[in-house]
Amino acid sequence: MRKPIMAGNWKMNKTRDEALQFIYAVNKSLPNNELVDTVVCAPAIILRDLVKRKGDDLRIGAQNMHFDDNGAYTGEISPIMLQTTGVEYVIIGHSERRAMFGETDETVNLKLLAALRHNLNPIVCVGETLEERENNLTNTTLERQVLKSLKGIPALDVPSIVFAYEPVWAIGTGKTASAQIAEDACLYIRELIAKLYNKAISEEVRIQYGGSVKPSNIDEFMAMPDIDGALVGGAGLESESFIKLCEACVVEKK
Ligand code: PGA
Repeated sequence: MRKPIMAGNWKMNKTRDEALQFIYAVNKSLPNNELVDTVVCAPAIILRDLVKRKGDDLRIGAQNMHFDDNGAYTGEISPIMLQTTGVEYVIIGHSERRAMFGETDETVNLKLLAALRHNLNPIVCVGETLEERENNLTNTTLERQVLKSLKGIPALDVPSIVFAYEPVWAIGTGKTASAQIAEDACLYIRELIAKLYNKAISEEVRIQYGGSVKPSNIDEFMAMPDIDGALVGGAGLESESFIKLCEACVVEKK
């Protein structure tokens, strides 16, 4: 069985003090790590503080990184820097980075290779825009994004990749995909991985849904067979709400 995974994506929110308050508030209240992986993806400048102060049941993630180990890339952060800071996860190819910061399928692939090379657990975001959905291009987009991200990735590494299906039209908009829409997309992603590798490997890969998930709707998503957790923005910023989301991930799948 796949272990569920709940990840909060703080985006560009929280000062150091606010972040530490959150960590102290959740530290003793998160479900056991044997039952669910809980991750907070925080701004890079406070990652070290969080790594040092987090409780045993929480993992710390970054929201982005460069794909090279070092070099003349002003303002960038490398996978080695994350790994030696004690960061365990990294979000790759979030739609905000694709739309606003020039992230492409090619850089997503390079970053995924780099994350795996440095033992960082990648959360690779894929998902269609509203225009693509309205033009029946959802599966075409998912296929392009998933296949290009996996270029050159050996089968052995695939089970450690987490995919996050995040339809762009549902992010930060309050509009969630229905649980069935999310399930169909997550199943489609799993089938793509099965075709590219094999069914056994695809059954090991964890796939999250993301887009306006909150404590009041998480159960519908978690009830779906191919949804293994969520990547949450807004509703993950507040400690009580984050704890509820993490608890909701501990479910028996049929
Ligand atoms: P949201 O963001 O939960 O605020 O919609 C999700 C995300 O961007 O990962």
